[in-house]
Amino acid sequence: MSDVEVISAENKNINTKYKLTTTGATILGISGAIAVGFYAVVTPFLSPALRKVCLPFVPATTTQVQNVMRALKGSGGGTLLDIGSGDGRIVLEAAKHGFKATGVELNIWLVLYSKFRSWRLGLNQRAGFVRQDLWKTDLSEFDNIVIFGVEQMMMPLKDKLNKEMHSSMSVVACRFPFPDWEPYQTIGTGIDTVWLYRKSSSPSIKEHNTEDLEMER
Ligand SMILES: C[S@@+](CC[C@H](N)C(=O)[O-])C[C@H]1O[C@@H](n2cnc3c(N)ncnc32)[C@H](O)[C@@H]1O
Repeated sequence: MSDVEVISAENKNINTKYKLTTTGATILGISGAIAVGFYAVVTPFLSPALRKVCLPFVPATTTQVQNVMRALKGSGGGTLLDIGSGDGRIVLEAAKHGFKATGVELNIWLVLYSKFRSWRLGLNQRAGFVRQDLWKTDLSEFDNIVIFGVEQMMMPLKDKLNKEMHSSMSVVACRFPFPDWEPYQTIGTGIDTVWLYRKSSSPSIKEHNTEDLEMER
């Protein structure tokens, strides 16, 4: 047998040995699809953790949502923006209370889920959700801003609000207050605390009316 014949015979053996059966190809295809699907679902949840400001999805507690609504009671209604709206619970509750509420959220799955819940609750006219970066959102268009953020973002967010906050705007911070800003009102305790800020309570104007309210347990 010539060298060429030997190599060709060996290749034939290899081809026979490693030829994919239909079942093998199907299993490989399904595994690939599962891997791609898993990646597509999980990545939007992990990516906020990889950004400069790590802001993961942690939903507000029921008490926290109630405290936000209490804080906004005297705000006069109007438009509301929840920056980093998660599963949409604050936006939907605000819409139930008569606000024209919007949520901006990076995670596409949370945006789709929020839209679905809004449709199920019949709140489509009053609640909207947009996949958008909060840092690229113009806050000045809204009457009320709600943020449930993380401590490290409160300073840069304060700088952004210093440029975009107008005199009739109410800002509600959940769990972490803005550094150096006097709250107009503090509601609740512990992890459910929310702070209400108005332009009149900002230190530059040096007027404030701090009223601490204890949430009934
Ligand atoms: C702590 S959760 C708050 C969720 C909701 N506001 C609540 O109170 O239940 C923060 C949310 O912000 C989102 N997020 C993180 N970085 C963001 C960004 N740059 N722009 C918009 N949303 C962002 C996260 O995906 C997460 O859902």
